[in-house]
Amino acid sequence: MKVAPSLLSCDFAKMGEEVVRVDQAGADLIHLDVMDGHFVPNITIGPGIVSAVRPFTKLPFDVHLMIDDPLDYIDAFANAGADIITFHIEARSDPLATIEKIRQKGIKAGLVIKPKTPVEAVFPYLDQLYMVLVMTVEPGFGGQSFMADMMPKVTALKNECKKRELDVLIEVDGGISEKTVGAAAAAGADICVSGTGVFKAKDMKEAIRFLQDPPFDPVS
Ligand code: DX5
Ligand code: ZN
Repeated sequence: MKVAPSLLSCDFAKMGEEVVRVDQAGADLIHLDVMDGHFVPNITIGPGIVSAVRPFTKLPFDVHLMIDDPLDYIDAFANAGADIITFHIEARSDPLATIEKIRQKGIKAGLVIKPKTPVEAVFPYLDQLYMVLVMTVEPGFGGQSFMADMMPKVTALKNECKKRELDVLIEVDGGISEKTVGAAAAAGADICVSGTGVFKAKDMKEAIRFLQDPPFDPVS
């Protein structure tokens, strides 16, 4: 399992240092949550912050857009240093045009589904995608409880990709901790996002190591 700590739970006044800290603690990717106050009821970071923290690490930037019109902002986030851009299927932009734009910028594209969205919604786009992100909380805030009932979506995606011989990574996001990561691993997730679980851990290195090699236990 690869681990993508979410900067949403870091100390915003020391973002550069926090990126270095999480890199040194063994993170695989850096997850950046972009919220516009419309698609979700919260406002977080924009491209200016992404480019400000970009020089602090060589790890891939996994930029999760929770915004109404992702297509309008692909240029800005790609130029700011995103390596992967994921956007919501529930957003207003045309999914194919948005995926195409991301790929034209030379970076990787992913689609995200909210808890109430059926997994089949992303099936028509799978052959164009690097990643699918299955939300395990309602997007908008860190520190919420993991929704174990999203795990069948992860397994369904895994099976669909296998059937079609597609190599699409599956990421889970929301409420991932040492207690819940086993379920995500058992369901077939490749990458887990963790905000509180990493940044509020007593020992960050230990927390990341545990998430990377979780007990394969669907009931933990
Ligand atoms: C929620 C964000 C998540 C969030 C995860 O809308 O997409 O990335 O930061 O935070 P935790 O791990 O605290 O649930
Ligand atoms: Zn996220």
